[in-house]
Amino acid sequence: MSPPPHLLGIEGLSAARIERLLSLAQRFHAAAPPRSLAGKRLLVLFYEASTRTRTSFEVAARRLGAETVSVTAQSSSIEKGESLLDTVYTLSAMVIDGIVVRHASSGAPRLVAEHVDVPVINAGDGMHEHPTQALLDGFTILRHRPAIAGLKVAIIGDLLHSRVARSNLLLLSRLGAEVWLCGPRTLLPPEFAAYGPGVRLTHELEEALAGADVVMVLRIQMERMRESFFPSEAEYVARYSVTRERLRTAKPDALVMHPGPMIRGVEISAEVADSPQSVIREQVENGVLIRMAVLHDALQGAA
Ligand code: NCD
Repeated sequence: MSPPPHLLGIEGLSAARIERLLSLAQRFHAAAPPRSLAGKRLLVLFYEASTRTRTSFEVAARRLGAETVSVTAQSSSIEKGESLLDTVYTLSAMVIDGIVVRHASSGAPRLVAEHVDVPVINAGDGMHEHPTQALLDGFTILRHRPAIAGLKVAIIGDLLHSRVARSNLLLLSRLGAEVWLCGPRTLLPPEFAAYGPGVRLTHELEEALAGADVVMVLRIQMERMRESFFPSEAEYVARYSVTRERLRTAKPDALVMHPGPMIRGVEISAEVADSPQSVIREQVENGVLIRMAVLHDALQGAA
């Protein structure tokens, strides 16, 4: 028996499956979605804080007719120290057809996938991957541009701790974009250059922004830092905050993106976040469509 169609990361996902998920989301956007998951039950297991990702998985599942069972770290035995696998075994006994999991440890969704026989979807694992975010970002770009190939995408900020950046880097370079990564030396791992053919690294914001078609801004992930990675917030803002003036070096119609939650005045100015170029709210809307596509794809064929 072949394994269930998990979605653990963009790594290992073929360009064909990426294209299929993107066009499925487009289909769900264009016409009323089918109730293809009627009678299915999805376990939504969140060990880390989340606003948009958890709710959008729930909304997406319900739109396709599925029932959801949500468990968060603050309202369950997870708080009492029950192990991840024990929690999954307990909840699997209630008969579920798929599991969405977010966890602070990289690799946690894979561990779950190795011990269950239903599809597992990674909703963000530590500093590793956040595949549905990269898919929704790719989808958002495609709603404004005919193709991803040939675009210059600048990803700016805390690359080191960002699972969003890692997944986007893999997805966008696989689809032919030139991806420029920009941040302070301490937050920009040199090995990222090997992630794809079109990946470039720079510490100069101006270089990353010059002629960019897409500007993706990342939050500084303080919760993942045990030490200081830059001298002060003021210094970070002075060098890397994306302001209206700095954005002028990008293409005039460059798309501005941010996965949220954003800290206005730090990595991005309020003016840029609310500008007509910003597609940040659209990213949230598209998150539901992409998660519908992912759930439909993973669960429909599953027993
Ligand atoms: C991101 C995450 O949790 O990785 N948020 C999200 O899912 N939209 C990014 C972040 O927390 O900064």
